[in-house]
Formats: sequence, C-alpha cells, structure tokens
Amino acid sequence: SVALGLGLGLGLTIGRRSGGIKDTFLKRCQKFKDLNCQNVWDAFQRAYINRDPCTVTTDAYDPFIEAVSFKPQCNRVLFWSKTKEVAHSFTQKRDCLVTLEDTPLGAMVDGLTWCGKKGSNETFSSGCPEYSACENNPMRSYWNRASAALADAACGDVSVMLSGSIQTPFDPESIFATIEVTRLHSPRVRRLNVVLVMEKNAVTNCENKSLKNLQNVLDAGIGYGCKEVTRDQIDKCSSDPEIACGACW
Ligand code: APR
Repeated sequence: SVALGLGLGLGLTIGRRSGGIKDTFLKRCQKFKDLNCQNVWDAFQRAYINRDPCTVTTDAYDPFIEAVSFKPQCNRVLFWSKTKEVAHSFTQKRDCLVTLEDTPLGAMVDGLTWCGKKGSNETFSSGCPEYSACENNPMRSYWNRASAALADAACGDVSVMLSGSIQTPFDPESIFATIEVTRLHSPRVRRLNVVLVMEKNAVTNCENKSLKNLQNVLDAGIGYGCKEVTRDQIDKCSSDPEIACGACW
C-alpha cells in the first residue's frame, strides 16, 4: 500500500479491500491441528469488524483468546524486546524455547496488517491506522492482549532475549516491560533468565542500569539471572542439534 505523505499526522495508508488476510490466517491456523480454524477466524474478526479502527480495546479479543485456548509448557517461554529477528532465528530451529510468534496466537497474524471500518463487515489490510496512530487500534490491542495471554501462561523458568546493542535493553515502555513482566508471579514463575545478545556493536553488559530496574520490578520470589551471549554463540547453537539446548548458554 502507498503511504499518504500528507503530513496530517493521521497515520493512514491508502485503502484497498483484502481477501488475502483471511486466507493467510486460515492457512497458518491449519498447521495447528487441534484448532477449529473457522471458529477461531470468526472470533478474531468479531473483535474489530464494523468498528472505528481506533476504538478496538484489548478486551475485544478475549473471545478470540478463549477460542485458541492457549497452553504453553513450563520452562519454554522466550520473550523478546528489540531482538525479534535473533529470537525467532533461534526458535525456528530449536524447539526447546517458544516465542509468542511460534504459538498459534502469534503465528496466525505475525507480520499482517488488519482493521475494520464502521458500516462494513469486511477485514481490511490497508487503510488501517499505523501502530502509533492511536492507542486502541486493532493491531496494537491484539499484540498487547496476546502478549498478556502468553505471560499469564508462562511458568517455571522463563527467558527473555534483550539487546546488548542499546543503552536501555530493558525498555520501560516496551510490551515486555509493561505487559509481560508485570504478569509474571511467583511461585508459578520460578526464575527469569535474561539472555543479553551481544553483537559486534555491543554497548553494554549485564551490569546495565535498566537491568537493575528489571530486577527491582520483578515479583518477589522470582529468581533472576543474566548472561551475555554472543550472536555467534546463538547462531552456532541454532544450527547444531548436537548441542543440548540447556548447554547453549
Ligand atoms: N508483529 C508486529 N508487531 C509486534 C509483534 C509482532 N509479532 N510483537 C510485538 N509487536 C510490536 C510491539 O508492540 C512493539 O511496538 O512491535 C514492536 C516490537 O517492539 P520491541 O520494543 O522490540 O519489543 P516489545 O515492545 O517488548 O514487544 C515484544 O511482546 O509480542 C510480545 O512476546 C512478545 O516478548 C515479546 C514482546
């Protein structure tokens, strides 16, 4: 879609009606054998169709979350913040850890754009508000709601990949900080392991101030650990199944 450079700050793109998102959604859904994909799609759509696209709240997706009935295993959840690519490059090859996007909730819509319009029962994939255009937009509310569901279901040891290439690896504005960390409670969650991803341009380490803040906001009783892990180490472990997952870092 073509971005409208009108400088009006509306954050809108030129609209075209889409049949594509439903097909993509259903195709991705079918990979998860235990889902009734038509029901899941109907519940998903009901959250945002026939509404002004800046009035979709996180609660609107509750029936959808219910329809997907999400049960990740303990000790496998991997959160990420500013590390989407490296986190997924790992979980796509190794199944000891799963990100939101490896679960049905994240996988069905990862990378997609969607919204509704008042007076229409269609799903649109362009002409939608940009992520930052308004608080209650269909995609932002979705990712907030889905992230909350993953955090609610996380148990045992949980991990997060944070970036050692920025001054504030634990960004207080991120979904990880505002939604995920706040929903981790002891004793359901035993420990949070930070994997601080060190690329060649690393600017910090596990002593980082924002990571101290992370320890301070963690629910009492949840253990904390941080490891500086080079990108090379992560890549090596992703591509070598001989290395036990627990020995990756
Ligand atoms: N597709 C598109 N946008 C996404 C996705 C996704 N799969 N997941 C998150 N977003 C949005 C977030 O709202 C955020 O604005 O993209 C941006 C990624 O931001 P980061 O600052 O890198 O990370 P963070 O805000 O912490 O969000 C990532 O949220 O989706 C969950 O479990 C996931 O732990 C992860 C965290």
